[in-house]
Amino acid sequence: METASDSQVKVCNVSELTPGQSKYVKAKDKDIGVFNVGGKFYAIDNMCIHAGAPLNEGFINEEKCQVACNWHGWIFDLPTGKCVSHPRQDVFAGTYVVKVLNDEIFVEVG
Ligand code: FES
Repeated sequence: METASDSQVKVCNVSELTPGQSKYVKAKDKDIGVFNVGGKFYAIDNMCIHAGAPLNEGFINEEKCQVACNWHGWIFDLPTGKCVSHPRQDVFAGTYVVKVLNDEIFVEVG
């Protein structure tokens, strides 16, 4: 049985984050939003880089695998963290590796 390492922080059980849902987790000193899109998990910095809104409360577009910030509508690609609504091509939220071990979801931090 694979076990979590020191760099992996538990988010929740798989059953607690169903497709189309998101969750905030404080992992070490990071604020992370974890998203379930069609059964795949993604994690990005939860604080919107525009003005700090919590992205886990944004609108998830499952078809495009994106989240739209609910304050001013900036849109982030969940796999890459890229802000796809921004005219510049180099605006990104930080992303994190997500692992599922024994029906529990973990994010890799540090
Ligand atoms: S705070 Fe997210 S778009 Fe403005």
